[in-house]
Amino acid sequence: MERPAWAPRSIDISVPSVSRMYDYYLGGSHNFEVDRQAARRAMEFMPGLPKIMQANRAFMRRAVRFAVAGGITQFLDIGSGIPTFGNVHEAAQAAAPDARVMYVDHDPVAVAHSQAVLEGNDGAGILAADLRKPREILDSPELLRLIDLNRPVALLLVAILHFVEDADDPYAAVAELREALAPGSMLVLSHASYDGIPLPPERAEGAVDVYRNIRNPLIMRTRDEIARFFEGYDMVEPGLVPMPQWRPDTAPEDEDPYAFSGFAGVGRTA
Ligand SMILES: C[S@@+](CC[C@H](N)C(=O)[O-])C[C@H]1O[C@@H](n2cnc3c(N)ncnc32)[C@H](O)[C@@H]1O
Repeated sequence: MERPAWAPRSIDISVPSVSRMYDYYLGGSHNFEVDRQAARRAMEFMPGLPKIMQANRAFMRRAVRFAVAGGITQFLDIGSGIPTFGNVHEAAQAAAPDARVMYVDHDPVAVAHSQAVLEGNDGAGILAADLRKPREILDSPELLRLIDLNRPVALLLVAILHFVEDADDPYAAVAELREALAPGSMLVLSHASYDGIPLPPERAEGAVDVYRNIRNPLIMRTRDEIARFFEGYDMVEPGLVPMPQWRPDTAPEDEDPYAFSGFAGVGRTA
């Protein structure tokens, strides 16, 4: 298999990656045949997967605009992925030109492509780091160059926590990040769940198995388990809801039924 110029030498391009599969679902071009095969296998069980991803991206952009309207101009987006159409820095800087965005991902392709996309943008940067080690993120010089932790920050954990297993204690990581944030900060979160998927659970499990087989398990949490990530935050209306129902720009009835899979919400620290 030929290695394109954008693929860092360090990566094994014979193993599918969740960020490149996600790029494929969203119609991006930073993916390999192994990623497309795995994504198509998952779509055999859940043909509406791209609709879920689109609803997720739309939620993320609405939440970014909501944060800017609430006076927040600093964004920490962990699990930011391979940049595609309508990224956080574009939505944030369109609403507030002085907005600052620190992207974080542990996937080398996401990091390399983010570096290329962000070249010349003084208000945004990318850090290669792991959500499971929050201290490394919070203490990194890259972050401290862009983000003033004494002022409110919107922390984005959008479609990432379902890749962190309970054994790695995602609740402790989220709590450590919350403790580092100034009052008035926001948590913007979306998470996969069996709730809302317009399929019998056995079929949805087929898609979950694809992720298990590529050794990147997808952890489907219940609404209550997802709500626990917001401990220490006051939920912003309308609370933790299916993505199209979070402050929609258009009537949610127009949405594909798959878009109602999983949950999204925003919380604010007092
Ligand atoms: C489904 S994508 C979501 C991208 C973007 N947040 C969005 O919602 O459009 C999940 C991203 O999380 C990243 N990721 C998964 N586990 C991570 C971890 N422990 N630390 C940092 N990034 C992680 C993956 O590499 C991938 O790019």
